[in-house]
Amino acid sequence: MKPAYYIGVMSGTSLDGIDTVLADFSGPSPVLQKTFFLPYDETLRSQLLALHQPGDDELNRAALLSNQLSQLYAKAVIGLLQQSKISPQQVVAIGCHGQTVRHCPETEKRYTIQLVNAALLAELTQITVVVDFRSRDIAAGGQGAPLVPAFHQAIFRSVDVSRVIVNIGGIANITSLGLGHQAVAGFDCGPGNLLLDAWCLRHTGQVYDKNGDWAAQGKIIGDLLKKLHETTHFFTLPPPKSTGRDLFNIQWLDDYLSGDEAVEDVQATLLQLTVTTIADSIDKYCASASEIYICGGGAHNRLLIDCLREALPNRKVSLTDELGVAADWVEAYAFAWLAQQAILGKPANLSAVTGAKGERILGAIYPGL
Ligand SMILES: Nc1ncnc2c1ncn2[C@@H]1O[C@H](COP(=O)(O)OP(=O)(O)O)[C@@H](O)[C@H]1O
Ligand SMILES: [Mg+2]
Repeated sequence: MKPAYYIGVMSGTSLDGIDTVLADFSGPSPVLQKTFFLPYDETLRSQLLALHQPGDDELNRAALLSNQLSQLYAKAVIGLLQQSKISPQQVVAIGCHGQTVRHCPETEKRYTIQLVNAALLAELTQITVVVDFRSRDIAAGGQGAPLVPAFHQAIFRSVDVSRVIVNIGGIANITSLGLGHQAVAGFDCGPGNLLLDAWCLRHTGQVYDKNGDWAAQGKIIGDLLKKLHETTHFFTLPPPKSTGRDLFNIQWLDDYLSGDEAVEDVQATLLQLTVTTIADSIDKYCASASEIYICGGGAHNRLLIDCLREALPNRKVSLTDELGVAADWVEAYAFAWLAQQAILGKPANLSAVTGAKGERILGAIYPGL
């Protein structure tokens, strides 16, 4: 059978860089052919972070960053193709998430902004580009997120065990894959790594707390954990729900701190907040699940995984690697799949997950050469 190559390009809330995958969807099950990661530098990360808040000259800065990002997306795609020995002409399309700088699905706003200059990316790669996957779902009344559950369903659902997939990126989201005709459920649980990263950068100069080693030196501050957890409206909301840096950011955290806390104790508390909000979400909405599979960069945080195991006793807690897809690549793989859905004119949102009025074809298509 002739291959059906698609490329997925994911740059998530963590602002760590660009994950790319080459997938072949021609066979009965998808095949992940190659992967490539291109990190962001410090300057780009801080310019992107600055655009998450209102500020001077926003439109111009956003447009310039979209151009700069698209140059980097193209560089990552070319790097991936070189490793794969595949030419651009052999690729059907690129699904590019873009870089979220605002996500406001709530009633008064109802928009989401991912930076990417898709025309430039199509021009630089000569490949058809699909972008802006979230807006149509929001226009149809949904959250525009999470979009990965349909892909999780396509590749990870089992006929005889009820599973949950937990993606721990900047934000953590879960997908519940029940048995039989049970609808797939999914939603954002709250912060994944983004508060851990921000606190770690401020106090150690490191962009993340490798393996959770720094958090392991601290003690959980019970009162602070309780306050963060119990006074945040988002945690009490039922699904469908989604969130981002608009809510969970370092200023949000600062408002809860007295300044007397030991810095490593705050890190330990933030790690536990991620664990508690994920475990609570599973207990509340996926009670029958017996297998939990983790993906996203948080899968590398050993302490986080150990604490999740402790918080979810009597369930198997593993990484998606065990299901045949390494934890780092699941999301980019999903965007290759979402591009295919768009090109084939097939819907890709699950209205039970996002709350949209119905299933919709997602994305805007920019033809290649
Ligand atoms: N060895 C590690 N130890 C702890 N955390 C890690 C490790 N490797 C990656 N991470 C975390 O994973 C994040 C990147 O995860 P990713 O899935 O790319 O998130 P996003 O989709 O939001 O970009 C990093 O910012 C960091 O917090
Ligand atoms: Mg990332």
